[in-house]
Amino acid sequence: MATEVTELRARASGVLRENWRTGVRRADGLAYAYTCPSTPRYRHQWHWDSCFHAIAWSHFDRARAEAELRTLLRSGRPDGFLPHTVFWGWPAGWRRAPFYATGRVLGATHTETIDPPLLAVAWERAGPAGDVAALEQIAAHLDWLARERDPDGDGLLSLILPDESGLDDSPKFDVVFGRYAHYKPSAALLIEQCRRLGYSARRIAACGELHVEEVLVNVAYALSLHAMARMTGEPSWALRAAQTERGLVWRSLDPATGLFFDLAGPGETPVRVSTWSCLAPLALPGVPDDVKRRLVEEHLLDARRYRAPVGIPSVSMEEPAYTPHFDRWRNWRGPSWVNTAWLLVPALRALGYEADAERIVAPLARAALREGFREYYDPRDGTGQAAKGFAWSTLLVDLV
Ligand code: GLC
Repeated sequence: MATEVTELRARASGVLRENWRTGVRRADGLAYAYTCPSTPRYRHQWHWDSCFHAIAWSHFDRARAEAELRTLLRSGRPDGFLPHTVFWGWPAGWRRAPFYATGRVLGATHTETIDPPLLAVAWERAGPAGDVAALEQIAAHLDWLARERDPDGDGLLSLILPDESGLDDSPKFDVVFGRYAHYKPSAALLIEQCRRLGYSARRIAACGELHVEEVLVNVAYALSLHAMARMTGEPSWALRAAQTERGLVWRSLDPATGLFFDLAGPGETPVRVSTWSCLAPLALPGVPDDVKRRLVEEHLLDARRYRAPVGIPSVSMEEPAYTPHFDRWRNWRGPSWVNTAWLLVPALRALGYEADAERIVAPLARAALREGFREYYDPRDGTGQAAKGFAWSTLLVDLV
């Protein structure tokens, strides 16, 4: 195992270096340094990808980890908004541009939408300690989310488009977004509608349009609020984290199945599709242990649901939509991703399921050694799928 870990680390560092991009943006003269997820498919900077990259970089080169996070901090607006995707070296290509939720279709420097807010988590792991100015900027970002994305003030953030969850084509969005689902051509119409409403969650909700209190984004948010509490020593952050955790337990937790479901639309209807985000609250310190054990015993470790030979399937194997093989047009519908294991495995270890945690990590690490760092893997046999040299898959170095 020791030589395998050494090999895995060497290859991870190789992928991160290969994908490293630096320069100055022509449109506004801003300097950038970040890891692109994978070329040629993903050339831009994605918010949650960069958080993962920084954590992986912190194992090899803390200066690059910090530079990547500072680039994220430069990517937004003074009011605290930080975008889902940032275009540094190149604007979005004309064919893809209508599918990016930007202010104008051509020539935008970033999207007007959010991504799972993991910046405070990444800063605590990979940023320098005691940088008051950076912490103030991260605080402004979390305040923006509370102000703009929690219109009903219940501590749970709302999404306006499915890819704000990072789980673009997950089958949990099929029912909610229907013909506007992220992988359908009409997705561009939904983006156009959000553009007309200024991407304001409040205006979108007031028009009776779609919005979703999505579990994964709220888990990321609560984790970041906890990280802020530790980094600043200010108890108000911990109170905000607890409010979000309570919101999830009281409102998203389904007593019948023990799963956490997204709440969709004005009626906050539970979206009863079992995908890995239903298990994500395992990572939260404020979720009671009995709720977590149920998630583990009845779902994560159940061979009919999420216990697969390689990694953690992104959709329960029991769901009709579960698709373990590569699907050219859709993602997050079955294959195992490394960031999923990265979020859930430490929680499993903390609850004492050490052997099960190993059973998830070791086959994923073997798959990465055999197939390279791929975007995701077939849960049945670890066949690598989709993008090659995919940077956040190097998070495995944080798990082994
Ligand atoms: C895909 C993933 C998304 C990720 C992006 C860049 O769209 O669904 O989560 O951020 O690729 O890697």
